[in-house]
Amino acid sequence: MKRSFLVAVFALVVTLPVRAAKDTVAIELPAEHTRLAPGPNLAAAQICVVCHSVDYIYMQPPLTDDQWRSEVLKMKNMFGAPISDAEVEPIVIYLLSQNGERQVQETSPAP
Ligand code: HEC
Repeated sequence: MKRSFLVAVFALVVTLPVRAAKDTVAIELPAEHTRLAPGPNLAAAQICVVCHSVDYIYMQPPLTDDQWRSEVLKMKNMFGAPISDAEVEPIVIYLLSQNGERQVQETSPAP
């Protein structure tokens, strides 16, 4: 009785890791960004990662021109990001190239 119990425990210990390995599921993580990816006006957009990580840009849902523009103006006017008026549009173009909804808007039917 005692011996069969030990055998059972032994069998369990031996097979557990195998079962755990079998139950492993593959998951796909979103692409990780540690820096801004290449794109138009990248140099101007580098200001966007001075205060916070690039995740703030890539983790947003794709934004429209207007939404990215107001985001840039918010950073400039409310948080004091040193961005000149002339740099706003180039940065918006960069942001659209990275995480913009422009493609979707262009293909959707006219209202
Ligand atoms: C002067 C510092 C500074 C700079 C430069 C800066 N940000 Fe921010 N940003 C902030 C702060 C502060 C927050 C709010 C942080 C929080 O809520 O945790 C923020 C938040 C954000 C968010 C999250 C949404 C929101 O509105 O709170 C986004 C998106 C973002 N920034 C994008 C940008 C982009 C794009 C640029 C470049 C144009 C930029 N940031 C440059 C300081 C900055």
